[in-house]
Amino acid sequence: MRYHKPFFSVLLMTTCSFMVLAQQGMPKDVAARGKTIYGAVCMACHQSDGGGVPRLNPPLSGSKTVNGPKDKLIPIVLNGMSGVEIEGESYGNVMASHADLKDQEIADVLNYVRNNFGNKASLVSAADVKKVRIKLKK
Ligand code: HEC
Repeated sequence: MRYHKPFFSVLLMTTCSFMVLAQQGMPKDVAARGKTIYGAVCMACHQSDGGGVPRLNPPLSGSKTVNGPKDKLIPIVLNGMSGVEIEGESYGNVMASHADLKDQEIADVLNYVRNNFGNKASLVSAADVKKVRIKLKK
């Protein structure tokens, strides 16, 4: 029996990673990059579970904006946001612009938040971000 253990652990690990991939619908490296950026740039305010902080920072989990159209979501990261009521709640913090992130980095972090915390939405590409960036400059 002892010889079968490693085999089963490998099988279990492979099955689990396929399940995670199927659930997230995106390549593993994309998911990992997005998670790293989220941890470095967004997590302090929006928290590791995307739950936010009451009255300070809104939750990203279950957010209509996060799960909604890309051309409404991308400008929030590029321009920042403050003083807007979300679902009848106001939040005291100011979200600064994160336009210094590269197009690909913004795509990666948005793909992470759109496919975690119980969210499910289509993938954002660097080209999507570039388009919005150009539109906002006009
Ligand atoms: C300094 C804290 C802070 C940081 C860092 C921050 N945010 Fe925010 N974020 C906020 C606040 C506060 C609001 C709401 C502003 C308002 O009420 O107008 C917000 C709003 C949002 C919204 C809109 C949510 C909704 O339901 O309408 C999204 C999406 C978002 N942030 C994503 C991000 C992402 C992605 C990052 C990292 C790249 C990030 N935020 C970094 C504080 C922050």
